[in-house]
Order: sequence, then C-alpha cells, then structure tokens
Amino acid sequence: MEMEQLVALCKRRGFLFQSSEIYGGLNGFWDYGPLGVELKRNIREAWWRDMVSSHDELEAPPGAPSAYEMTGLDCTIIMHPQVWKCSGHYDLFHDYMVDCRESKKRYRYDQIEGRWVEYEGNRVFATSYQSGEEALADIELKALKFFNLRSKHKDDLQWDEPLRALPAVEDRSRVLGPDAKQLATLTEPREFSLMFKTIIGALGGEEDTAFLRPETAQGIFVNFKNVLDSTRVRIPFGIAQIGKAFRNEITPRNFTFRSREFEQMEIEFFCHPETSAQWYQYWRDRRFRWYVELGLAGDRLRLRDHDRQELSHYSCGTADIEYAFPFLAPGQFGELEGVAHRGDFDLRSHMEGKLVRRGDELVVEEGPDGKPRYRGSGKDLSYFDEQTRERYVPHVIEPSAGADRAALAFLCEAYNEDEVPDEDGKPTRRVFMRFHPRLAPVKAAVFPLVKKDGMPEVARGIYRALKPHLNVFYDEKGAVGRRYRRQDEVGTPFCITVDGQTMADGTVTIRDRDTLKQWRVSKKDCLAELQGRLTG
Ligand code: GAP
Repeated sequence: MEMEQLVALCKRRGFLFQSSEIYGGLNGFWDYGPLGVELKRNIREAWWRDMVSSHDELEAPPGAPSAYEMTGLDCTIIMHPQVWKCSGHYDLFHDYMVDCRESKKRYRYDQIEGRWVEYEGNRVFATSYQSGEEALADIELKALKFFNLRSKHKDDLQWDEPLRALPAVEDRSRVLGPDAKQLATLTEPREFSLMFKTIIGALGGEEDTAFLRPETAQGIFVNFKNVLDSTRVRIPFGIAQIGKAFRNEITPRNFTFRSREFEQMEIEFFCHPETSAQWYQYWRDRRFRWYVELGLAGDRLRLRDHDRQELSHYSCGTADIEYAFPFLAPGQFGELEGVAHRGDFDLRSHMEGKLVRRGDELVVEEGPDGKPRYRGSGKDLSYFDEQTRERYVPHVIEPSAGADRAALAFLCEAYNEDEVPDEDGKPTRRVFMRFHPRLAPVKAAVFPLVKKDGMPEVARGIYRALKPHLNVFYDEKGAVGRRYRRQDEVGTPFCITVDGQTMADGTVTIRDRDTLKQWRVSKKDCLAELQGRLTG
C-alpha cells in the first residue's frame, strides 16, 4: 500500500482531518472524524479493558511472577512546574535542531539523512529531509543538480556509503543541506525544548509559567501516595492512565506518527526491587501480545531490546514495540510503545529532587551553591510491606503506548485491496479495511435489498433492536452492491440484508467483509449471531 492511498481514504471517509483545515491547517495537529473517533475510542477501550477493568486480580496470569492489582487515574494536563524540574524534563527534554543559512529552513538534526557521493573527484554529503525510499530518490536529484548533471548521467555519480544520519558525519564543510544549493550552509546543532509553555493566571510573570505535560506518567508518580492511602492496593500493582500529551516537535511528519498533540496510554507498575526484572519481562511480552491479539501480526511487528548505550540514564532495560510503517524505508521500523524498567528513579526524584547518575548510583544533582539543583517534594514515597515489615522504594516498570500511533498502525495494517465480481459479474477492484472486530468503528450495517415491499420497515426494526448493543448503521440508498463497497471501505465486519425471502420466512442474509461469504439466520437471532462472531 502507498501511504497516499491511506491518507486519501482517511480524509474521504472521515477517519482523520488536518486540524483547522479551512484556515490552511496547523502542522502537527490532527482531528479524528466521525469514523476515526470510533476507531480511537475502541483502541482506548480495548486497552483499558484488557489492562485494567477485566484484569483478574486473584490469579497470576501466564508469565507473571504473581497475581497483581490494576487501578487508574485521570490527572491534569498542567501540573506544578516543579514536577518537570524534578523529573528531568525541564533540563533534558529537548531535541537538537539546525538552521540552513541559505534556505532559512529549520530541521531536526537527527532527521537529516544523506549519502556520500562523488563526481570527477568532488565528494559531497548530499542530504534529504524525507525518509525511506523518498529520501534516496531526493538525494539523487539533489546530487545531480549540485553537479549540474542531467538525469541521463546519473550513472556517472559514485555512491560509496549507504544512507546515514547527519550526526554521523564529521566533515561539515562537505555537507549539502536538504534545501541548499551550496555546501556548508547548516549551522551547528542547538538545543530546542520540546515542552509547550503556558501562563497560569492574569499576571503572567516568569513565575507563572507552566507546561503542558509531555507525558502522562508524571501525574501517576506524584499521586502514588494518594492511591496507596485511599485504596487497598498493595504491591505489586499498576496505575493506568490515558490522556493527552504535548510535544513541540521541531518537524512533525509522517501523517499522525509524529504529532505535537497526541494521546498516551501509560501504565506505571510498582513492584519490589528483587522481582522487578521478572516483571519487566512479563510486561514486555504482555504488551507485545496485545498488538498481536488485535491483528498486528506478522513480520511488520517486532519487539526490539535497546542496547546498553541506547538506554536512558535511569533505565535498567527498555524494549520497543515497533511497526514497519509504509512511509519508512524497507527494513525500518517506527516505535508504537516503549516498555521500560525505570528502577526507583521517578519516586526518588519526587522525594529527594532531580537525580543524576554518578557511576552506578543515582544521586541528587547539586547546584553551584551545593544545594539540590531542584528540590523534591520532601514527601515519603517509600512503601511499607505489613507482612514482611520491610520498607523500600518500589521499582517501576512502564509500558508507555501512543494511542495515535496504534490507530495509525491499525489503519495501515487494515488497508487491503482485492478483486470481486460486481452486480454483472465483472471483476472490480475493492478496497476494504480489515479491522479486528473489536476495533472496527461500525460493527454491522443493515440494508433493505430494495426500498419497497415492506423491506425498509423490517430492516429498520432490526437496526433498532441492535443499536442499544452495537454501533450499527442503516442504509437504504443506492444499489446494494455499492452499499456493500462503502461498508467494506470503512471496515464494517458484517452486513445484514433484508430481501424477498425475509418477508416469506423471517430470515436475513449476513455477509462477511473478508470472505464475502453469505449465510441466512432468523432476523430475531441477529444480535446473538453478531455478538458471537464479534467476540469469537
Ligand atoms: N513516559 C514515557 C514516554 O513518554 P516516549 O517513548 O517518549 O515515552 C511513549 O513516548 C509513546 O508515546 C511512544 O511510544 C509513542 O507511541 C507516543 N509518542 C511519543 N511522541 C509522540 C509524538 N510526537 N506523536 C505521536 N505519538 C508520540
């Protein structure tokens, strides 16, 4: 599938629109349309149900060291600014950017890719700001232009290394910027904070500055004690939260993949330090399985453990769940979710103040006056185990997923084309979205075959009987073949049709989106039939 086809379908059928489109759009912001909102709600609900509300707290699930409890929170987007100072975001949550002195454009440093190319002894690093196959084609074009060559001479160019990111290049004097005609027009990389600032209250002084949260996780850490004091949960337990997060990405790109406003589905799982490695393994595998269960199977989904040098300064282990999005080059994957072993970093940071690594230890970072650079809350966030009489700071395992990236991956995976006979038996191209039934925005459509002979009345009766239980859609306009195609294109798993036989024996046909098989059931059994097939 070409990404353009999916983007066009998303707009045409109301899955995704550019935010503020009538004013030209706003880069990095997306609105979910009437079908998109159902898809995303289904993703969130599947996650909450599978991780929290239907979790069996009495028995250890396969692979878990013991039984455990799950609970939830819904915290504010704006929090006390000290939260971000102690968490490390205030000082460390930035990307590097470079500016081009010639084109006046700004780029994220690590997203400029290029290749070394030589012509008549002149060697340059030609770059592109696109990704994957598009980057390779773009770089060739740039190199031809730079050397003043026509495309028929492209074989005269000598390429000596594969595509690599700009930070790996030492000799900047030979770099041709993505939109430049001359060499060496890119500035040195500079830090750029990813946190959106806002002002609280009417006065608007520097001390009133606050931030839109860049992750939902911190709301959970700062409420750890509240949850312990107000419920009967005991370690091991997890706190889940779904909510918006904001990052002022330098260059949002690839449809919704890198947005400035997005939604996270995060769990902070608190456990004893001695069992934390086992819990990390459990969550890493459990979360991978969740995507497989919802249809992201095959070699487009992978679980990748981070190397030691890739780990954050506080992390004892991280694995990413990744998907081979179609906008990436073959062999490249994009992150859907990170599962991290965060040790006791977060709870200690909010107790003691911002921590830094010194050798094998995490210690409170000091300012020039020898005092903590950012003071913690001073509240005791340790845990006392009544049974063992032991007091300790729990370790944390964090499965952190993006709801929008999951939605994008499910959309990409669902997109399918095949050929089916039309009403006259002529093979015609069909686009159908093969969503898992739990995620499909509409579960079934109900049609009268024709708009007469009492069929619409019967079909409306079936629609009304189903509607309180399932999101179903009624359609009586146009040829029935076209109605089927419209439902296929939005991924509706089943279509129910009332026809002449219904009027005689009370049965209807049910058609399966993927196999196109049709079978008859009594109209009063439609709900049971659909429920069995949607969950089975
Ligand atoms: N609390 C840990 C944390 O926030 P992260 O890897 O920065 O970790 C977690 O983010 C998930 O949030 C990512 O795996 C991704 O799915 C999603 N995410 C992060 N930045 C995003 C962006 N700019 N646009 C869309 N989703 C994003």
